[in-house]
Amino acid sequence: MDLNLAEKVAIVGGGSKGLGRACAEELAREGAKVVICSRTEADLQKTASEIRESTGADVFVYAGDLDKYETIQDLVSETVNHFGQLDILVANSGGPPLARAATADEETWNITVQRSLLFFARIARESIPHMRAQGGGRIINILSSTVFQPIDNLALSGAARMGVVAYSKSLSEELGPDNILVNNVCPGAILTDRMLGNTTARANAQGISVEDALEARGQEAVLNRIGRPDEFSGLVAFLASDRASYITGTTMLIDGGMVRSVL
Ligand SMILES: NC(=O)c1ccc[n+]([C@@H]2O[C@H](COP(=O)([O-])OP(=O)(O)OC[C@H]3O[C@@H](n4cnc5c(N)ncnc54)[C@H](OP(=O)(O)O)[C@@H]3O)[C@@H](O)[C@H]2O)c1
Repeated sequence: MDLNLAEKVAIVGGGSKGLGRACAEELAREGAKVVICSRTEADLQKTASEIRESTGADVFVYAGDLDKYETIQDLVSETVNHFGQLDILVANSGGPPLARAATADEETWNITVQRSLLFFARIARESIPHMRAQGGGRIINILSSTVFQPIDNLALSGAARMGVVAYSKSLSEELGPDNILVNNVCPGAILTDRMLGNTTARANAQGISVEDALEARGQEAVLNRIGRPDEFSGLVAFLASDRASYITGTTMLIDGGMVRSVL
């Protein structure tokens, strides 16, 4: 399927590694010009040159902390300065700190609210005027399966991201007339640095090996394994394309069947 993303410009947050990197690479392979943002400049530069080499795409990097509003403002304005437009926003960043519901402290809650709730509202608010001016756009929020089913040491992930689900439903209603489509994509367990770190913490808490913890996590999926980032990025690229022109206001899982709820 040709997703026909040539002439499109995409921002991908958290784009140096993991899911963000896979999304940036997939969009670039489909012809989009891509801006990747994360905190560590050296990782960004390395990823950008690897994506340029594998896809031939134009990749621009912006180093900054997406927990900070100023970074978000600069990222969007630098993108438009550099490429002249913004069509696709993949709103992705680091995940919230590990925490339990009963004991999460003030600092952990504050970081979580900045990173896993306000970030999505801020980056959309900065991007929308550019998309409106161009007659349309795509906002794809990367959330988590925790909005469907809790994970032991990630209690605040679901708490904050449920807010994004409600927020983005309202946003999709407000932006429909502008042809800006808004959707959420929720990974289950996809092998990245963060997923490995979280699983290691759970393995240590349970006194089991990381290999056993990874295998047990994979067995929670009906496909009986953990996913790969390239199994995640295809849906994001599809949602960014004209082939997904009648999909908005939805929240989709990519979890190999891990979440057992009927809806
Ligand atoms: N992988 C999974 O199975 C899974 C499951 C559920 C939810 N998620 C969610 O999906 C998102 C991406 O996770 P991932 O697994 O791809 O993680 P990852 O492999 O650790 O990659 C995270 C990326 O985000 C960047 N980043 C982290 N904090 C940032 C910040 N404050 N500002 C700017 N960039 C930042 C990192 O680079 P720097 O550190 O250099 O900034 C890196 O490029 C997270 O929100 C995570 O909670 C993932």
